[in-house]
Amino acid sequence: MDIAAQIAQLKREKDAVILAHYYVPAETQALADYVGDSFYLARLARELDCSTIVLCGVSFMAESAKMLNPTRTVLLPDVTADCPMAHMVRKEDVDAVKARYDDLATVCYINSTAEIKSWSDVCVTSSNAVKVVRELPQHNILFIPDMHLGHYVSLQVPEKSFILNRGYCPIHHKMIPAEVEELEMAHPEAVVVAHPECTEEVLREADYIGSTKQMIDYVAKSDAKEFIVLTVEGVRREMELATEGTGKRFYFTKTTPICVNMAKVTPEKVLACLRDGTGEVGMPDCVAEATTPLERMLELAAR
Ligand code: 13P
Ligand code: SF4
Repeated sequence: MDIAAQIAQLKREKDAVILAHYYVPAETQALADYVGDSFYLARLARELDCSTIVLCGVSFMAESAKMLNPTRTVLLPDVTADCPMAHMVRKEDVDAVKARYDDLATVCYINSTAEIKSWSDVCVTSSNAVKVVRELPQHNILFIPDMHLGHYVSLQVPEKSFILNRGYCPIHHKMIPAEVEELEMAHPEAVVVAHPECTEEVLREADYIGSTKQMIDYVAKSDAKEFIVLTVEGVRREMELATEGTGKRFYFTKTTPICVNMAKVTPEKVLACLRDGTGEVGMPDCVAEATTPLERMLELAAR
C-alpha cells in the first residue's frame, strides 16, 4: 500500500482529520482534508467533529488547535517544527510597556507561544489583524511579536498609536527590494503580491498585500497573467490549482523562500504520527489565559 492509502486507512480507523498549512510540502498538502491559512486552521479546529486532528504545520498552530478544541487529540507530525518568531518577545518588555500606558491593548500575532498569548488581550492573524485592531476600544496598541506585520497594520489604522516589538520571520525578513526589482525587470507585466511579514521596503513594491489565502484568492480573481509572489513557495501548489487552465505564472525570489520548519512535515512523518500516536500536543499550563485572546480574535473577526 502506498503512503496515501495507508494514511486514508489510518484516518478511518482513528477517526482523524488532517489539516495543513500552505507552507508544508506540496505532497503533504495533497494528503490533507483541509488546507488553509492560520486563521482558517484556527477557526476550523474549533468546528471539527473527530477524535484526532493531525496538524501539518508548526507548533503554535497545533497548540492553538488544542486550546480551541480541548477534547480532541492533536498530533504534530514533527515536534521540532517550530516558528522562530513565535518566541521573539520578552515578558519584561511587554510589562514595561503595560506599565507606561493606560489605554493599551496588547495584540498578539497568532505566530506565538501559548505563554506569549497569555500576556495579551487579543490574537490576530495576517488575514484579520487590521479588522481586529480597528474593532478594539483602546487607542494604544502594543503589537507582538512581528514588527513587520505590526508596522503594516499601523499604516492601515493611522487613528491608533502603535508600539512595536522587534520580532520577525527569518524567511520574509531576508527578502530585499533589489531581488524584487530584478524579478520586475525580468517580468515587467507581473503583478506583485506580498505577505505582510515582509519588510516595509519590500511591501512598498507590492500591488497587493495579504495573508497566504488572501494572496491565493487575489491571483485567482486577477486578470493579470504573471505574478511575483513574496512569501514562502509552498503557496505555489494552491495558486496553480486555483488558476488551472489559465496559463498564469508565478515567480518567487531567488533566495528560495522555504520555511525550514514547515518543510519538516513530510508525508512519512504524517503516516508515522497517525500510526504510532506520536507527537501528541499537550495542554499548556496557561491554557485559560491563552485561549481567551484566541477566542476574542474569533469573535472580533466575525463581526
Ligand atoms: P498566514 O496566516 O498568512 O497563513 O501566515 C502564516 C505564516 O506563518 C506566515 O509566515
Ligand atoms: Fe514562522 Fe516564518 Fe515559518 Fe511562518 S514562514 S512559520 S512566520 S518561520
